Amino acid sequence: MKRCGQQMNSNLAVEFANVTFRYKQQQSNMDQSPILKDFNLQINNNEFVSIIGPSGCGKSTLFRIITGLEEPEQGNVLINGQTYQSRLGQVGYMPQQDLLMPWRTILENAKLPLELKGMKKEYAESLVLPLFEEFGLNGVQDKYPSDLSGGMKQRVSFLRTNLTGSNVLLLDEPFSALDAITRLSMQEWLLAQWEKRKKTVLFITHDVDEALFLSDRILIFTETPVASLREIVVPINRQRSLHDLHSPEMIDLKQNLIEQLRLKVAL
Ligand SMILES: Nc1ncnc2c1ncn2[C@@H]1O[C@H](COP(=O)(O)OP(=O)(O)OP(=O)(O)O)[C@@H](O)[C@H]1O
Ligand SMILES: [Mg+2]
Repeated sequence: MKRCGQQMNSNLAVEFANVTFRYKQQQSNMDQSPILKDFNLQINNNEFVSIIGPSGCGKSTLFRIITGLEEPEQGNVLINGQTYQSRLGQVGYMPQQDLLMPWRTILENAKLPLELKGMKKEYAESLVLPLFEEFGLNGVQDKYPSDLSGGMKQRVSFLRTNLTGSNVLLLDEPFSALDAITRLSMQEWLLAQWEKRKKTVLFITHDVDEALFLSDRILIFTETPVASLREIVVPINRQRSLHDLHSPEMIDLKQNLIEQLRLKVAL
């Protein structure tokens, strides 16, 4: 494993320390303006943190940097207190688009991360198959993605994200394409999985209710380039129910969150 940095704070699952990032312009020599500038962020172990902000502000970019698909021009990104020469493979990542391969069966899709690690087919299957029941996917292993409902496809993607073995999961708008009822049951399902598996989850959403229901903290993009995200701590205990969202305190918090997002869109 290509570790290169010293441990800074072992309680942190993800840390950005003075990170500056901009995309390189493809066709001209001019660089784009930065998305992150001297950016700092700290995510604790076992936290559920939502990231919210208008379209194009840089939410998915933040995930691409954590995964190592993009590298900052300055600063350090630490996973579990370590810097790496390459962070690829250090976190579980469920990207914004459904990346199930239509020509592979559900089992073949699910075991892909293990295959990529060079694991033998039979051994990979023996690890993946017992998880199908836990993820509500009994009996679908020989079907193809086009045979599954939206919620089931998201559960296959989530199962696959878990197979990376990392304690850090990045979920980029996983439920945005689902109908309202399926979405609610998937949110409850995800919380149950998170409580059971003791992972750190970073979750991008545009949905304020979803962020309030799921998260310990909500981080808001308020400017571009951004140096730090504004933070809201969600003051309801676990185990949560949807009913908790209707208290006067939570309604005020929701209003406050919407105001902050409106402010940003108006800029
Ligand atoms: N590969 C890329 N090359 C150059 N610019 C990019 C690239 N990917 C994203 N961008 C730009 O970076 C900015 C942030 O994009 P990003 O995808 O992170 O936004 P987002 O907050 O995830 O938006 P959305 O809510 O619509 O998913 C946008 O202006 C986008 O056009
Ligand atoms: Mg995005």
